[in-house]
Amino acid sequence: MKALVIGATGGIGSALARLLASKVESLWVSGRNQEKLAALAKELNANSVVADLSEETQVANMLSQVGELDLLIYAAGAVAKVNVRQMDLSEWRKVVDANLTGAFFVLKHACFNKGARAVFIGVYPELVRVNGLSAYAVSKLGLETLLNVARREMRSEGVNLILVRLPEVATNLWSVFGVVPRRALSPEEAAQKILDNLFVEPCPEVIEIARAK
Ligand SMILES: NC(=O)c1ccc[n+]([C@@H]2O[C@H](COP(=O)([O-])OP(=O)(O)OC[C@H]3O[C@@H](n4cnc5c(N)ncnc54)[C@H](OP(=O)(O)O)[C@@H]3O)[C@@H](O)[C@H]2O)c1
Repeated sequence: MKALVIGATGGIGSALARLLASKVESLWVSGRNQEKLAALAKELNANSVVADLSEETQVANMLSQVGELDLLIYAAGAVAKVNVRQMDLSEWRKVVDANLTGAFFVLKHACFNKGARAVFIGVYPELVRVNGLSAYAVSKLGLETLLNVARREMRSEGVNLILVRLPEVATNLWSVFGVVPRRALSPEEAAQKILDNLFVEPCPEVIEIARAK
């Protein structure tokens, strides 16, 4: 099995890559931070490819380098906590690019083997209806809609598009809030729960990971 983790330099992406390393024959990891990515690839004996998801040519080059995939995990994302009336366009774009436009580029350019699984990390809509999170909420709900349409369009290709709804997970994403919720899952717990629910039959369209008790 050949797998690619996009956003592998992040909290959840790196935990997923570490779990997958011993389970797949060929592991590719991708991120923007070259130093972090190189260290992770060395640790896991994985192939690495740097790509900025806001640039279509970089995404297309990454995916043509990786080739046909059995598993793709899109674990990249960004957040801003800025009210609509204060938000700069550049801040809006940074969030929407990481959560939504990058996923569109990936769906457009990825090559999949029959029966492949492509996993995208989403949210519980009710948890992101929060002041300052407009760009994050819009892009995550847009991601969900993108997957619903692309799933129908790509059915004949035999690829399974899967949305994972995650509750709070203790990663750097929370740095804009200055505090991580007490009940947050660790990235390792979240990654294990995702994989536990991923390789079941029939393949799920949505995986919902429950909040910690
Ligand atoms: N943490 C939570 O509570 C939570 C809850 C629900 C859903 N999620 C979702 O889970 C996913 C992973 O989040 P996380 O918590 O692991 O966050 P994180 O630790 O901040 O990681 C974010 C990742 O996204 C990458 N990234 C951001 N913008 C990029 C761009 N333009 N091009 C390429 N890579 C880019 C970062 O790469 P570099 O570091 O290399 O720049 C990093 O690998 C996100 O989609 C997030 O929305 C998280």
